[in-house]
Amino acid sequence: YAFFLSLLGLALLLNCQLGSAYLLTCYFTNWAQYRPGLGRFKPDGIDPHLCTHLIYAFAGMSNNEITTIEWNDVTLYQAFKGLKNNRSNQLKTLLAIEGWNFGTAPFTAMVSTPENRKTFIASVIKFLRQYEFDRLDFDWEPGSRGALLRTSTSFIILVQEMHEAFEQEAKQANKSRLMITSAVAAGISNIQPGYEIPQLSQYLDYIHVMTYDFHGSWESYTGENSPLYKYPSDTGTNAYLSVEYAMNYWKDNGAPAEKLIVGFPTYGHTFILSNPSNTSIGAPTSSAGPAGPYTRQAGFWAYYEICTFLKNGATQEWEASQEVPYTYQVGYDNIKSFNIKAQWLKQNNFRGAMVWAIDLDDFSGTFCNQGEFPLISTLKYALGLQNTSCTPPAQPIAPITLPPGSRSSSSGGSGFCAGKAKRLYPVANNSNAFWHCLNGLTYQQQCQAMLVFSTSCDCCNWA
Ligand SMILES: *[C@@H]1O[C@H](CO)[C@@H](O)[C@H](O)[C@H]1NC(C)=O
Ligand SMILES: *[C@@H]1O[C@H](CO)[C@@H](O)[C@H](O)[C@H]1NC(C)=O
Ligand SMILES: *[C@@H]1O[C@H](CO)[C@@H](O)[C@H](O)[C@H]1NC(C)=O
Ligand SMILES: *[C@@H]1O[C@H](CO)[C@@H](O)[C@H](O)[C@H]1NC(C)=O
Ligand SMILES: *[C@@H]1O[C@H](CO)[C@@H](O)[C@H](O)[C@H]1NC(C)=O
Repeated sequence: YAFFLSLLGLALLLNCQLGSAYLLTCYFTNWAQYRPGLGRFKPDGIDPHLCTHLIYAFAGMSNNEITTIEWNDVTLYQAFKGLKNNRSNQLKTLLAIEGWNFGTAPFTAMVSTPENRKTFIASVIKFLRQYEFDRLDFDWEPGSRGALLRTSTSFIILVQEMHEAFEQEAKQANKSRLMITSAVAAGISNIQPGYEIPQLSQYLDYIHVMTYDFHGSWESYTGENSPLYKYPSDTGTNAYLSVEYAMNYWKDNGAPAEKLIVGFPTYGHTFILSNPSNTSIGAPTSSAGPAGPYTRQAGFWAYYEICTFLKNGATQEWEASQEVPYTYQVGYDNIKSFNIKAQWLKQNNFRGAMVWAIDLDDFSGTFCNQGEFPLISTLKYALGLQNTSCTPPAQPIAPITLPPGSRSSSSGGSGFCAGKAKRLYPVANNSNAFWHCLNGLTYQQQCQAMLVFSTSCDCCNWA
């Protein structure tokens, strides 16, 4: 303990630069306020220390100008601003504008002429400044619908003109520049026609890759919502449906890794199996799983609804109308998969994590018994964002376990761990990393930024 304190004293003398460069960007949806009972969520439920960036979804557009879409958006904007004040402006807020529900026609009309674009850009500057947002996030997904294919070039022109207008405004107003980000497709069939990646990357400050919704009840077989790697038997275009493939596709096609943010879902997609005894990945399904009591959308459950399902332990249900039993199947993420993906994100030098959505995590902690915001807290911890002050971690950082058969740096029965006891070992040339030996399998794992693996506690600690 004394040793700890003297190190701490030294760190304080050294001015304690213990920040993390990773971003943790969380979407808030303005329709979460309409969920019943415990599912209801408003900005006052957000822990201002949880995420580094908060995105308010969504604003809309009318007459080529950005607008509110909910009756109380302005009130909720004020609450968002309040969260920022509580963190002496370390928290950045973004306003997302969507184009999914109001279709492609207004978008196409807006981007098609310089006058319309100018009107739109001017309205965005006024709106963001008025409600004190720091950035605009486009959720337009050009390319995700056939009609938008031709507009991808005009989307780049719009982003470029907006970037220039933002720079000019910052100079004139003597304020820091408004930034521009965009949520972008992870499905390769959407990326290819939709985006000119290098040009787009030049004008966007960050790129939120929606690495989820890879599989769901719109298909006739089960699959994971957000698999890190492809399923071994996936072939053809299905082999592209993974976080790894999508992130590398963006990187390899011209987006710099330091602008790329990996998407993490706090929800799952559910299915009803055709044959209840075949529960494997790729098993045939008959339909979407039933709607959850709070999110009320067939085939979709928030993480907290999944916890209820798991707690009840019942996987078999009786379909009264057809007198047949059926089983639900759900593809989702949990603390373990978030941890594994966060380590992967760091190993691959991506800039951070984006979460859809803060209101789908177990924000109250009442459903999952894992504390408040268990999934997003996992990311915050894994990305070294738990605090920028110089206190040592309260708890030794429990090493995560990877499932046997995971492909992450594992080598079955060979490698460093061959013949070694089940334990953690230091890595000779990298104090930030440690070996995790499990049944002879080798996993290399990393401590969070600034910490080193210590054999005295089998944990990550200050150097
Ligand atoms: C934010 O700050 C205000 C006053 O500055 C305070 O009343 C409020 O409780 C704070 N909220 C949180 C979540 O810390
Ligand atoms: C611009 O803002 C900075 C910091 O707020 C201030 O120090 C500076 O004097 C301002 N410059 C002008 C030209 O107003
Ligand atoms: C389950 O379904 C998949 C896909 O149709 C099939 O390949 C597999 O053999 C089935 N497994 C069982 C146990 O029926
Ligand atoms: C981080 O530090 C701030 C200010 O010192 C404190 O209010 C907050 O509770 C801390 N957060 C965590 C997760 O420890
Ligand atoms: C550590 O050593 C291994 C094997 O000798 C090598 O492959 C790896 O690149 C080294 N890592 C660092 C960070 O030097």
